[in-house]
Amino acid sequence: MSANKESWGSRVGLILAMAGNAVGLGNFLRFPVQAVQNGGGAFIIPYLVCFLVMGIPLLWIEWSMGRFGGKHGHHSTPFIVDTMGKNRLWKYIGVFGIWTNIAVASYYCYLESWTMSYVFHSVIGTFRDLDQEGVSNFFNEYVSLGISTLGVPYEPIVFFLLCLLLNTWILSKGLAGGVERVAKIGMPLLILFGVFLAYKGFTITAGEDGAINDSSVGLNFLWTPNFDELWSPSVWLAAAGQIFFTLSVGMGTVQCYASYVRSKDDIALNAMSAGWMNEFVEVVLGAAILIPISIGYLGIDRVTEMVQHGGLGLAFRTMPYLFYQWGDVLGAIAGVMWFGLLFFAGITSSLAMGTPWIGFLQDEFNWKRKPAAWSFGIFVLVLGMPTVLFFEYGVFDEYDYWAGTVSLVVFALFESILFAWIFGMNKGWREIISGADIKVPNIYRFIIKYITPMLLLWVFLGSLFTPKGGDWTVAFSGNWQLDDSSIIKKIMNSGLKQQLAAATDPAQIEHLQDTLFFVNASRILLLLVWLGLALLVYIAYRKRVREGRI
Ligand code: ALA
Repeated sequence: MSANKESWGSRVGLILAMAGNAVGLGNFLRFPVQAVQNGGGAFIIPYLVCFLVMGIPLLWIEWSMGRFGGKHGHHSTPFIVDTMGKNRLWKYIGVFGIWTNIAVASYYCYLESWTMSYVFHSVIGTFRDLDQEGVSNFFNEYVSLGISTLGVPYEPIVFFLLCLLLNTWILSKGLAGGVERVAKIGMPLLILFGVFLAYKGFTITAGEDGAINDSSVGLNFLWTPNFDELWSPSVWLAAAGQIFFTLSVGMGTVQCYASYVRSKDDIALNAMSAGWMNEFVEVVLGAAILIPISIGYLGIDRVTEMVQHGGLGLAFRTMPYLFYQWGDVLGAIAGVMWFGLLFFAGITSSLAMGTPWIGFLQDEFNWKRKPAAWSFGIFVLVLGMPTVLFFEYGVFDEYDYWAGTVSLVVFALFESILFAWIFGMNKGWREIISGADIKVPNIYRFIIKYITPMLLLWVFLGSLFTPKGGDWTVAFSGNWQLDDSSIIKKIMNSGLKQQLAAATDPAQIEHLQDTLFFVNASRILLLLVWLGLALLVYIAYRKRVREGRI
């Protein structure tokens, strides 16, 4: 049995940590951008349906898997799923629950470090005298490592290191002493800043402070459902992807956090409290800031165009300039609040990504918390450095695609089958309702058994074989050509190769050739990490057999 006897300090702390795990950069940066890219209001109905039939069931599945694993002394997915499934191969499926976190943390912490840096620049007034283009150029230079402030060269690397040091230090303090404390401070502050900025977003008036639209223009854009788009599977795939990312399901973090819950404690209500808190922050606050403010000042067309050319940067390219339309003082304060909010959202999620690896080392190799936390920091530094150095060659996006998108669906699909069909729905349901402080609706027994795995399978197959232009009607009529965004075409680098074939400018050709190289190299690196982790799981398994623990 593992010597890992950590536990949460309080129920409030657990819920805030779990909500902090879910509430992240995805809520404020990814959600609004996904909505814009998928037809504005058309997105919201599939999104909410996916939350009800995939998000909530997966939360219950993962919380109960975690508490069940914790009872058996397991705090990471390889041996949690091993205990639930009879087949020896399950533990290798469980590798995803460590790998995804390390790979996501590698680019996520870089993104988080931008928010630290932008808080710093808001404080020292870097953006005060820049126009919209100046702010946008600042971002472009930043990610190509061209910014050096106060004589510090390679500023993005410095902030990345600082961000990792902070994460590692907090993780080394343990669950109650580190993670839980940060969540108790970070989450209320995040909501406070978010409410203030949402209020500003709601009250934008055309003609005041340089705004060209009322806030209602941006809000209507996000919220008016377009029923025509409702039948487009591509919109559904995007909605499902956002639900996985925002709730952090299919990652392995929820199982890890829940494995430190006591065996008689409730999980049903806890899962709902954290999950709904995440939805409130995403749908109410996340939707009320970035898009209404950007559209208020820049208009729908301009914002849509910026989003199509790399959505993640929108908040960094526009907001610092837009805030200064409210005056110098409020501009600086709003900048600190916005990037501070993003920082708290980010760090409470990246801390969660560190815990499965730490739990694994503690359980299997008897590591102490501190060295385990430091090993996570070093791992993420090494794996994350290519996303910093070769950002413009698509390494960051490549990590996000494989680890932050595809892997979540794959693992969620496997675990839902394991839970409902192999562990068995009767046992699974007993796990969910044991100690429950709410009555879990019986309909979820049916949903978890049939609907969730079927939808997950559909999402996975739909992403694997996405038809050209997302046109499923043509595909089903017998002319099924794959779109460049399908997983299969991605593996073949079809989109990039087409761009290369069409390019005539030598500089562009060279850039595309380099991109192709870095994209392939990042995949190999991620694959090697997966294999390395699988080897560690195998070694841990042999060790268990030798010690008579299996
Ligand atoms: N759930 C985290 C987010 O939304 C990863 O950013």
